[in-house]
Amino acid sequence: MPNSKDIIRGKVTVSVLQAKKARREPITMLTAYDYPTALIMDNAGIDSLLVGDSLGMVVLGYENTLPVTMEDMLHHCKAVSRGASKAHLIGDMPFMSYQVSAAEAVRNAGRFLQEGGMDAVKLEGGRERAAAIKAIVSAGIPVMGHLGLTPQSVHKLGGWKIQGKSADAALRLVEDAHLLENAGCYALVLEAIPDRLAELISRRLQIPVIGIGAGAGCDGQVLVAHDMLGMFQRFTPIFVKKYADLNAQITEAVRGYISDVNTRSFPAAENSHPMDESAYQELLKHLGSDSGKLQVAG
Ligand code: KIV
Repeated sequence: MPNSKDIIRGKVTVSVLQAKKARREPITMLTAYDYPTALIMDNAGIDSLLVGDSLGMVVLGYENTLPVTMEDMLHHCKAVSRGASKAHLIGDMPFMSYQVSAAEAVRNAGRFLQEGGMDAVKLEGGRERAAAIKAIVSAGIPVMGHLGLTPQSVHKLGGWKIQGKSADAALRLVEDAHLLENAGCYALVLEAIPDRLAELISRRLQIPVIGIGAGAGCDGQVLVAHDMLGMFQRFTPIFVKKYADLNAQITEAVRGYISDVNTRSFPAAENSHPMDESAYQELLKHLGSDSGKLQVAG
């Protein structure tokens, strides 16, 4: 039985997210990369879906997010936008789609809305991205920032490490967070930074701050779907809580299918189309003595 909140649930917009922050209501966000998952998550009532470039690792099998292209992203954004009608949809700008020039950043950001069906874009980085962010926002495209562990800079950061641990590094993150807000970002992701630092940034900013590996003090939380559903086995960061073990469930299902096919217990009568008896007898009459013979080619 849906509750009254579900019945009146409309499209989640930038202002809905900002109003949630003002009311201190947590914002929920997950990644989604395909139509069926987006449909399930949207119907379950998620506020926001991020088509993250994490798809490079959890869907396409790359080592990191660097090989992901604009075409990869748009392909998955289109599928997600066909599945989700209420959730706020964010497309993640891939490596090298916004770093070269502000003009290129605007053109690529526009494709996420025009072709991908997204409501907003996300891009990684602090002060060095201010010009690109301002240009995209002035084209009327909402931008979500992303600070802390920014996976597209994995080589510069020297690996998947917690960021902002020293006072200097933390101060730089606080400054960057203000800078992104002033550049026009409507929201910010903080990834893999100490919880007290994330809480402090969330309190200082007017815009919603969504944490991943950043503690409970943020305005909202995001997780990579394949991590929280137990679909990605290569490594699991400590900040992930597994809400399902789909790897085990899918393995069991596939093994069950293999066994049923091998023992001929699938398909059963209820999975088959019976042939009308008179049509079958007539067919046998036509085939005469050939009925039941296997015709081997050559
Ligand atoms: O690509 C992604 O999934 C992300 C989240 C980790 C925030 O950027």
